[in-house]
Amino acid sequence: MARETQNQPGEARWWDRSVGYQIYLRSFADSDGDGVGDFAGLTQRLDHLAWLGVDMVWVTPFYPSPMADFGYDISDYVDVDPLFGTLADADAMIERAHELGLRVVFDIVPNHSSDQHQWFVEARRSRDDPKRDWFIWRDPAPDGGPPNNWVTHFGGPAWTFDELTGQYYLHLFLPEQPDLNWANPAIGDAWDEIIQFWLDRGVDGFRIDVTQGMAKDADLRSNPELRPLHDGMDRHEQWESFEHRYDIVQPESLDIFRRWNRLVEPAGAFLIGETYVLDAAALHHFLTPRDGIHAGFWFQPMHIEWSPDQVLATLRDPVDAVGGGIGWCMSSHDDPRAPGRFGGGELGVLRALGLFTMFCGLPGTPFLYMGDELGLVDGVVPLDRRADPVSFRTGVEADGRDGCRTPMTWEPGPGFGFSTMEDPWLPFGGRTDADTVAVQATDPMSPLSRWRRLLSARRRVIDAPGFAEAAVQWRERRGPIISFRRGDFVFALNAGDAAAPFNPGAPCTPWFKSTEVFERGADGVDRPLKEPGAIDPPIVLAAGEAIIVHSP
Ligand code: NOJ
Repeated sequence: MARETQNQPGEARWWDRSVGYQIYLRSFADSDGDGVGDFAGLTQRLDHLAWLGVDMVWVTPFYPSPMADFGYDISDYVDVDPLFGTLADADAMIERAHELGLRVVFDIVPNHSSDQHQWFVEARRSRDDPKRDWFIWRDPAPDGGPPNNWVTHFGGPAWTFDELTGQYYLHLFLPEQPDLNWANPAIGDAWDEIIQFWLDRGVDGFRIDVTQGMAKDADLRSNPELRPLHDGMDRHEQWESFEHRYDIVQPESLDIFRRWNRLVEPAGAFLIGETYVLDAAALHHFLTPRDGIHAGFWFQPMHIEWSPDQVLATLRDPVDAVGGGIGWCMSSHDDPRAPGRFGGGELGVLRALGLFTMFCGLPGTPFLYMGDELGLVDGVVPLDRRADPVSFRTGVEADGRDGCRTPMTWEPGPGFGFSTMEDPWLPFGGRTDADTVAVQATDPMSPLSRWRRLLSARRRVIDAPGFAEAAVQWRERRGPIISFRRGDFVFALNAGDAAAPFNPGAPCTPWFKSTEVFERGADGVDRPLKEPGAIDPPIVLAAGEAIIVHSP
């Protein structure tokens, strides 16, 4: 694939025209029957993604790992864990993706390593070890406790005492995931080499884990406490008991990303940060320098209640705050799947598709999480099959991430085409034949067919003259109908609970409507199969339904 190496100011770049697709590798496709997804399995299934119409795949960590956090604890940043295959398998996947016109984004984890990484093994040998300062060590507080009051994202204190050397080390996640010391220039040098290693293998970009946490307050000051911690708090309650003034969103991180921008720019590669911050001002912090990460994920759509006000705010706030570079997503391997959160059933599917339709018109890059295109809700994982370490950490039940990580369902039959093993690493969790790609592909009104039509419409819209560079103009909200104009198109979503009229303002041609099948006529215009002819306003949108109309 030819690489784009330059862009003009204000010109949309390849990622601004792309739709991404997140692959949780363990659960995507298993080629060798061990019950865990792998690179060779992914390569075999890339045709599905090209057929679906996505442009870029993001692959979650596959590096050698003790798997304390299923690969987000890395013991070698420049190799492949045998569970997922070999470096040659990764190369073959990249090559096949490029043949199909798909770009490849790898997940990098620069905030922390595994405690089994050679760097940490050396660092914990003695206080004088040359690698000691590659991690963050401090003496105990005067009472012998942790050096400050920081807690981990997974619950519990962010410090673990090391008996041998008599100091604590810092970890924003599990004790098995010690944080790297980005204040030490040696870390920056080491990471330049890691990034270059993958660029040289043809990778088109990186999803950066824990973008918000890499730089810490130089003095590691305690965070302001909002309320005292007590037993029985889950990990979210613990985290929200502090104002996170000193542990995350520090200005020094911008220097790291500026340096990486210079590193990847000659290859035209893409940097998208995890940016797990839920307010638009913090997203602004990472994205407005414009010479650092190119984009950042916006996670708030994973935390809203479905209401016209909240849906509008979650679409509008980041656009107003940062303009572009927004990674739009509604499900992931860390959060419950969207259709379930939005009410479940056909309504939940329609709302998820409707929200994604709006993502498709806003500046930035919409990302599907594998299985979103099938309208999947979380799989049901029995307590005795729970695997996610966060399920066990705080002792509070039902807080794990297993439900959104159950394996993909490709076709009917034992193992659902995911694996020859009928009972893989996580159970399928109640899936039926109707949840499979093979069955849904034959039904024009299945979630899969509708999502495919949406992605096809998005591609034509984004390629329409002037669209990608055009600004978003929000239209006044009418009842539950949220809408905006961008270029020659109007996007609208009914975020209410009942059907409502949408008035595009002028006769227009629908290019996508979530409850209808369109057919392209000889004149190149798409028309609904059920109602031939251009549509005159008003158009009725069902609850959760969205539409894209061409209205020059
Ligand atoms: C964010 C990842 O998405 C999550 O799965 C992981 O547990 C943490 N970062 C720690 O790496």
